[in-house]
Amino acid sequence: MTQTSPPLRLAILGAGARGAETYGRWLLRHPDRGRVVAVADPLRARRDQLADSAGLAPGDRFDDWRPLLAAADRLHLDAVVVALPDREHVAPTLAAAELGLVVLLEKPAAVTPVDLETLADGARRLKARIGVGHVLRFTPFWQTVHAVVSSGAIGGLVTALIEENIGFWHFAHSYVRGNWRRADLSSPMVLAKTCHDLDLIRWLAGSPPKTVTSVGSLSYFTAQNAPPGAPGRCLDGCPHAESCPFFAPRFYLDHLADVDRWPVSALGSDTSSEGRLESLRVGPYGRCVFHSDNDVADHQQTVLEFPAGLTATLSVSAFTGENTRTVRLTGTAGEIAGHLDSGNITVELFGPLAQLPDLPRASVLRETARPPLGHRVIELSAVAPPAAAFRGDAGGYVLGHAGGDDALMDAFVSSVRDAESQQAFSASLEESLDSHRMAFAAERSRLEGRVVRWDETVQG
Ligand SMILES: NC(=O)c1ccc[n+]([C@@H]2O[C@H](COP(=O)([O-])OP(=O)(O)OC[C@H]3O[C@@H](n4cnc5c(N)ncnc54)[C@H](O)[C@@H]3O)[C@@H](O)[C@H]2O)c1
Repeated sequence: MTQTSPPLRLAILGAGARGAETYGRWLLRHPDRGRVVAVADPLRARRDQLADSAGLAPGDRFDDWRPLLAAADRLHLDAVVVALPDREHVAPTLAAAELGLVVLLEKPAAVTPVDLETLADGARRLKARIGVGHVLRFTPFWQTVHAVVSSGAIGGLVTALIEENIGFWHFAHSYVRGNWRRADLSSPMVLAKTCHDLDLIRWLAGSPPKTVTSVGSLSYFTAQNAPPGAPGRCLDGCPHAESCPFFAPRFYLDHLADVDRWPVSALGSDTSSEGRLESLRVGPYGRCVFHSDNDVADHQQTVLEFPAGLTATLSVSAFTGENTRTVRLTGTAGEIAGHLDSGNITVELFGPLAQLPDLPRASVLRETARPPLGHRVIELSAVAPPAAAFRGDAGGYVLGHAGGDDALMDAFVSSVRDAESQQAFSASLEESLDSHRMAFAAERSRLEGRVVRWDETVQG
């Protein structure tokens, strides 16, 4: 976009945690880059909150995405953000692409193999310009890791291990009580939660895998594990209120008392103490974690074998204190280890003449030599800029995916009027869809107890 270009005109489809609190908020902070000119959401309070902040007229507020897209010409839209529930992604994306609009599509792009191929075929046919919300790719951390790998500094990749540490409270919130608790309402956890990680693996590997194998289960958040006498809801006199790590009032009334954004906003539009209490009395977030109707796995390990010989392992667990990712990559000429939220990355280079590439998103903290041969060990820091990190307003944990949310939106908005960056987005669409195919293969492997070949997955 040139300096003189007017701000883009964007519509937000789905004014929830992502549409309003993440992307809408970014646009409100960058009015010179893009404006929210229409909002669709059936929940009036959510719709109006974003629409009021953007100063929208009543006619530019819609209770469904369909009438909004039907008014696209009148609204002079450039792009739309599809931040609807998981099962409402394919139809609005293709409808917007038919209108020639650029789309930022939240992950998961689709929740079944058939829907995914419908999206992929439609996108190819329409030469659609679609970016998928794989925000982690845009973080300084993963950009740095990818730059080191693609420079060849650590040689050919041999193993990759990514650990997705969901965090016990986050898993209870989203995957036991919340929107992603049941595969039939949203999608399997390996897609809903870890398509990001599979996308990173696909990006680092440079190709789709040959085979996918996965094991895991819902092992803990079941009725059999309920402590004696635990009622269906935390507020119904639970005798374990003091000791249970998942006691909902402690989350939402005590520790998150000062937060009114995600995760508290998921409870409802009234985030006062009374509103929260009422929501815990009657809504899903007040349920005992052992008496919910959840069925998605709470831990899963997936092994992927790639044509060039790389084997990658993705290990995901609900039972972690931190809510972050860690990575360990071994290559024929070096090794990388890193921790997403701290931004710390350690690179070991085996060859005496090996060099790191330019790493614009990281700084070198120190360099040492590891005995006995004295090979180089370089410690890097790749942290999100403070303005992008959204730190602090939720009791210290990091919102904004380590800077990825802001960086994705920045890249997306820049790409709408820039053919070269649009090409990069379109190329990443195919890779992003591969990450979904990898997730479908993993789930199939887990459920059928066998190795799944890549060609089976693409055929659905
Ligand atoms: N990229 C990421 O890291 C990331 C993180 C969290 C969620 N997500 C994904 O983003 C999407 C949105 O998640 P969320 O947490 O914002 O959910 P949310 O429930 O907070 O928001 C979705 C909104 O869509 C609205 N909606 C439902 N049907 C609609 C319709 N027909 N027309 C218009 N609006 C409609 C709902 O009322 C709701 O307000 C999901 O697919 C989710 O999986 C992505």
